[in-house]
Amino acid sequence: MDFGDILIKRRAINFFDPTRDISDQLIRDLLEEAVKAPSSFNLQPWKVKILRDPETKAQLRSLAFDQPKVTEAPVILMILADRDGWKEGSETLEKHFANNLEPEQRDWFIGTTQALYGSNEMASQAFANKNAGLFAMSLMYAASNHGLHTHPMDGFDHDAVKKAWNIPDRYWISMLIAVGHLNPGTEVHPKAWRQSAVEMILEDDDHAPD
Ligand SMILES: Cc1cc2nc3c(=O)[nH]c(=O)nc-3n(C[C@H](O)[C@H](O)[C@H](O)COP(=O)(O)O)c2cc1C
Repeated sequence: MDFGDILIKRRAINFFDPTRDISDQLIRDLLEEAVKAPSSFNLQPWKVKILRDPETKAQLRSLAFDQPKVTEAPVILMILADRDGWKEGSETLEKHFANNLEPEQRDWFIGTTQALYGSNEMASQAFANKNAGLFAMSLMYAASNHGLHTHPMDGFDHDAVKKAWNIPDRYWISMLIAVGHLNPGTEVHPKAWRQSAVEMILEDDDHAPD
């Protein structure tokens, strides 16, 4: 499928084939492809939990409004957005720094990320979620490219899942993504209504010039 087809044909699928598994290697391939996503300062503030054990998925389903796809899909990816990923000492910041930047850039780098994402809680939350969302989208497109289907979900009890999985406070559970194969016989309908370009463009009338 070329990318134009993927854009049109990717759907949030409700009916997964519970008899078809996905290999660990394929999941790793998807993650390695998705990590090519852009992120603020290349900070990559995300982590992933891979849930595939039936009992684990059953527990998750009970905290996710009993959505059947949680147990029917062979794999659920829990996308964790790291609200501390801009902080000095954070693993991803330090690895990016060590691989890509020069020591003399450090003060500027730490100061700028602190100013942009560390001024208040909302800034850190937005930083985490916008970047994890781009990663999640890349992952879903990568899955489509491998002939797989996906379904992003935020229909779950965030606090209960966080507690049950002992997720550290720095992470917001950005979304769950069911990944698997389409259940045979399922008809995939065309996409629902989308805004046209004209509908989504806001005129720039209220912009106050300097
Ligand atoms: C962040 C996010 C969370 C979502 N959560 C749920 C969910 O919990 N349950 C569900 O059935 N669909 C969920 N959806 C799927 C949307 O309803 C779906 O993407 C939208 O209707 C557009 O359809 P399409 O993805 O098939 O093009 C979610 C989508 C996104 C992007």
